[in-house]
Amino acid sequence: MSDFVKVSRDGDVAIVTIDNPPVNALSFHVREPLLQALVSLRDDPSVAAIVIACAGRTFVAGADITEFGKPVQQPDLRALIATLETIAKPTVAAIHGTALGGGLELALGCHFRVADAGAKLGLPEVKLGLLPGGGGTVRLPRLVGAVKALRMIVSGSPIGATEAHAAGLVDAVFEGDLTAHAVNFAREIARKGGPYTPVRDRDDGLEETDLAAFDAEAGALAKKARGLEAPIACAQAVRNAVTMPFDEALAAERALFVRLVASDQSRAQRHLFFAEREAAKTSAKDIVKRRITRVGIIGAGTMGGGIAMAFANGGYPITLLETSQEALQRGLGTIEKNYAVSVTRGSLTEDAKRQRLAQFKGSTDYADLADCDLIVEAVFEDMAVKKEVFGKLDAVAKPGAILATNTSYLDINEIAASISRPQDVLGLHFFSPANVMKLLEIVRADKTAPDALATVVDMARRIGKVAVVVGVCHGFVGNRMLAARGSESEALLLEGATPSQIDQAFTDFGWPMGPFQMGDLAGLDIGWRNRKARGLTAVIADTLCEQGRFGQKTGRGFYLYEADARTPIADPEVEALIRTKAAEKGIAPRAISAEEIIERTLYPMINEGAKILEEGIVARSSDIDVVWVNGYGFPVGKGGPMFWAGLEGAAKIIERLEYWHDRTAKDVFKPAPLLKAMAETGSWEAGASI
Ligand code: 3HC
Ligand code: NAI
Repeated sequence: MSDFVKVSRDGDVAIVTIDNPPVNALSFHVREPLLQALVSLRDDPSVAAIVIACAGRTFVAGADITEFGKPVQQPDLRALIATLETIAKPTVAAIHGTALGGGLELALGCHFRVADAGAKLGLPEVKLGLLPGGGGTVRLPRLVGAVKALRMIVSGSPIGATEAHAAGLVDAVFEGDLTAHAVNFAREIARKGGPYTPVRDRDDGLEETDLAAFDAEAGALAKKARGLEAPIACAQAVRNAVTMPFDEALAAERALFVRLVASDQSRAQRHLFFAEREAAKTSAKDIVKRRITRVGIIGAGTMGGGIAMAFANGGYPITLLETSQEALQRGLGTIEKNYAVSVTRGSLTEDAKRQRLAQFKGSTDYADLADCDLIVEAVFEDMAVKKEVFGKLDAVAKPGAILATNTSYLDINEIAASISRPQDVLGLHFFSPANVMKLLEIVRADKTAPDALATVVDMARRIGKVAVVVGVCHGFVGNRMLAARGSESEALLLEGATPSQIDQAFTDFGWPMGPFQMGDLAGLDIGWRNRKARGLTAVIADTLCEQGRFGQKTGRGFYLYEADARTPIADPEVEALIRTKAAEKGIAPRAISAEEIIERTLYPMINEGAKILEEGIVARSSDIDVVWVNGYGFPVGKGGPMFWAGLEGAAKIIERLEYWHDRTAKDVFKPAPLLKAMAETGSWEAGASI
């Protein structure tokens, strides 16, 4: 017996319990005793059946991700499953919580799987840039069919117990004491007598595979992969399960796994997995958090409406405040319309929609915010207006209520200093549309109380956000680095690139869209207003706005938009405008390579990231990666700007920044001291933790 794997008996049924908190990952210290237990139970004539169950909150959630990239210690998962399949007596996996990745593969090594009604089953390896490497691609299709397996493995999304039952992945679903049910199930099966066919020898799911339909579906999924290798490898492996004998397909799966696990893409995605979890931790671990029962939102515009929906979706009752009944009704109307769209799309039931809307209380009276525990302000981006709102909150909010601002750029320390309770003030910087976008920058102001901060970090998880704690600076992490990228995009236009050429370089890099497509989508007028307020200019974008070209919403921006209003069409008028403006500035056009585009837009971003680190705005460089992947579409396969910088090499980045700084004398190219230090030590992560 080991601390991690315990064996008990219920009559002639043996129960093997894996106990490796928090998620029962299949670490070496689990695999070794598990193998021993299975061998000894296999050879023990007094055992009629074996149940594999887990202690704690979940069944096995997968291989131990921290072991990837290190030498494999035997027995590996494949050896474990192979041994499981040598057992002639019935083996039953009892699944509660989640059976993910190697966890589901272990269960597929059993003859039978029974599940708690609330359990979820899936192979999410693709999200780590991998494919299931413990036979999942070869065994799952044998039970659920090739197309269903393809969808599950390429999406990485788990399915519920009921769906898994209907698909043939689990044999029975129970409510209540799962282990007891599993033991009864195993005993009954043993009583009926064998032989019991291991999944590897079953082909129920494969019998009627239509390979042409499979290929069509795989092709469509591959198109969405956007440069990621793992989804393509997943599809290939499932296809092999159909076209090759079991052992051959298993060996092919292994070869693909070995290739992927060593790839930069998988390293990047594993980095992000841990980075997201790190970013959400505050140093104050044992702190007593404040209670949040009701949430107040001020302003029912673009952001306020979305933020209110995000909280409502997380189960919070909302008080939504506006300046007039008219504005309030408009805001509530938009919220109702958005929920109705979800119903039409099938992602929300009519009942759930009614329930969500019932969580909203509208008001135009600040006194109605007195029972709110958290109040988020999303009014106009204007310091005087924000201070006025916070002054009113100071008068009406209950003691200890957390007062948050959704400001994009304003100084939260200044807002906090304007009221009597700065310790309760912080920033909650949501991204548009706030009910959809995963990222939440939580801004810690100088006087923010640690318990207020810890409370909102917790709350972020409850409303499904990926939270990153950041400090106060202009634009925080995301928008500050975006500005560093943006200034060069316009300069490249003037020097001879076209919007399409720049956007193409971005999509080739793996971004979902380039800066000009993104500007057109978000609305060019937002940046224009912001620049005017700060006395800044961007000659091309400003001229487009003066011509009423705000992007998709006006049918014209950097591109033209026709019928579906979403597909950008290159506009010769815009290209002529660019050339005219360049000529006025005396800039002669020249050919610009994709490499130069990436270098001049992304290296300044990394440089700004280094300054952000240096100033202590974030605790670690991986926080910046989490912001960019979840808020701005930085390609996951590159792990975020700072991880990618590590791959590029700090020395190369410095060399190119200095080159461009010599030529242009622009500040964005002046290497940050921290970046220089990193280049000297040759280690990005080591430097980043300075
Ligand atoms: N290996 C190592 N650590 C893991 C892990 C894993 N597979 N899964 C979770 N953890 C760690 C997390 O890093 C976290 O550690 P921390 O507390 O020190 O930050 C802790 O377990 C708890 O994780 P969460 O905060 O994510 O807990 P939740 O309750 O929110 O979620 C979960 C639980 C749904 C299981 C989620 O952790 C998850 O999705 N885990 C990853 C599942 C996965 O990808 N499995 C496949 C692994 S690859 C594989 O199996 C390859 C095989 O085919 C060969
Ligand atoms: P918006 O103009 O769509 O909405 C602002 C709303 O606030 C309006 O409905 C207005 O009637 C209301 N309002 C103004 N003063 C008020 C007051 N004193 N009391 C109550 N309500 C009041 O603006 P948007 O885009 O929603 O922006 C709001 C805030 O969110 C700004 O600080 C902005 O910088 C920030 N933000 C905006 C993002 C975006 O993409 N639009 C993204 C992230 C943050």
